[in-house]
Amino acid sequence: MARNLTVGPAGQWRGVIEEYKDLLPVSDKTPRVTLLEGDTPLITSQSIGPGLPGTIKLYFKYEGTNPTGSFKDRGMTMAVAKAKEEGAQMTMCASTGNTSAAAAAYSAAAGLRSVVLIPDGYVALGKLSQALIHGARVIQVAGNFDDCLDLVREITDNYPVTLVNSLNPYRLEGQKTAAFEVCDALGHAPDFHALPVGNAGNITAYWWGYCEYYEKGLVDSRPRMLGFQAEGAAPMVHGEPVANPETIATAIRIGNPARWSDAAEAVEESHGLIQIVTDEEILAAYSELASTEGIFVEPASAAGVAGVKKLAQQGFFADESVTVVCTLTGHGLKDPDRAVDIVPEPDKAPPDLQTIVQMLGL
Ligand code: F0G
Repeated sequence: MARNLTVGPAGQWRGVIEEYKDLLPVSDKTPRVTLLEGDTPLITSQSIGPGLPGTIKLYFKYEGTNPTGSFKDRGMTMAVAKAKEEGAQMTMCASTGNTSAAAAAYSAAAGLRSVVLIPDGYVALGKLSQALIHGARVIQVAGNFDDCLDLVREITDNYPVTLVNSLNPYRLEGQKTAAFEVCDALGHAPDFHALPVGNAGNITAYWWGYCEYYEKGLVDSRPRMLGFQAEGAAPMVHGEPVANPETIATAIRIGNPARWSDAAEAVEESHGLIQIVTDEEILAAYSELASTEGIFVEPASAAGVAGVKKLAQQGFFADESVTVVCTLTGHGLKDPDRAVDIVPEPDKAPPDLQTIVQMLGL
């Protein structure tokens, strides 16, 4: 049985470090650099799940409600808290946008300088605005994410700067708490857990989280991990790096994931899979989530849902009754341009009652 968490004196959630401190590499001396991330909703699908063939109980772990709007906050609270504990002055990351937003926010909260390298022209405006307003030094590199990460590794290996990409072990320690929350909410582990794969940190972190709860006897099973990469950025599916990754889901536009081997292990040990979803399938799931479930996510976040729909239609879940959780990794407001691009323009009207009543066919 999953455990019950305590809450703070005023009944308020205290952030993932404090809530899960006995399962994280922290001590009382670790500064609580927190924006009260975590405690995100596990939403029962009202439309997509019931519409799938088979008996599938579908849930969405909606990470868009984290303080900076993505799951990265869970890892960043840990990475920046440990950096601060160890006396660091400056953090650095490469990012497709969300990591940089979280790194900038948590570094600001900790009083640390933050530097982010991003692929020029491929970061959604919401994310760029976050890194800038939180005071990070933002450098737009004429290259892709993989080029940015190579530079960050080189710099953080040789200068007194702390790397806060998911190669930083504390990042995944923080991110594994999402798996704890799923188990705490359901009272058991799901049968399947689906999510988008970019740098391959999150799928690894979830697997570690599920394994830890399982080993502690808090749940009696572990899910099969289902990872989905965009068609033009699917190195793990092809078994080799992609030199020029391309997808509308810019968050997962990555050709050589840093956590490749850990993620491959997670998939293998869990008897899961990594598959491709096309940009069209991602956008269809993105629209459907918004228009039928009322959940606005950024395009990459819909990749797991697109993948589950595809597998269900192929009969993958057969006639068993299964529980499937999809992580919706980031908020739709991160990338409003994409939403506006794919829907018809709003109608215009004069400030006239009759005209509007007529337009509405009332
Ligand atoms: N979904 C979103 C919204 C993301 O921002 C990312 C990764 C992923 C999924 C994939 O997670 O990398 O752990 O496999 N974004 C990173 C960034 C790369 O820089 O923000 P992953």
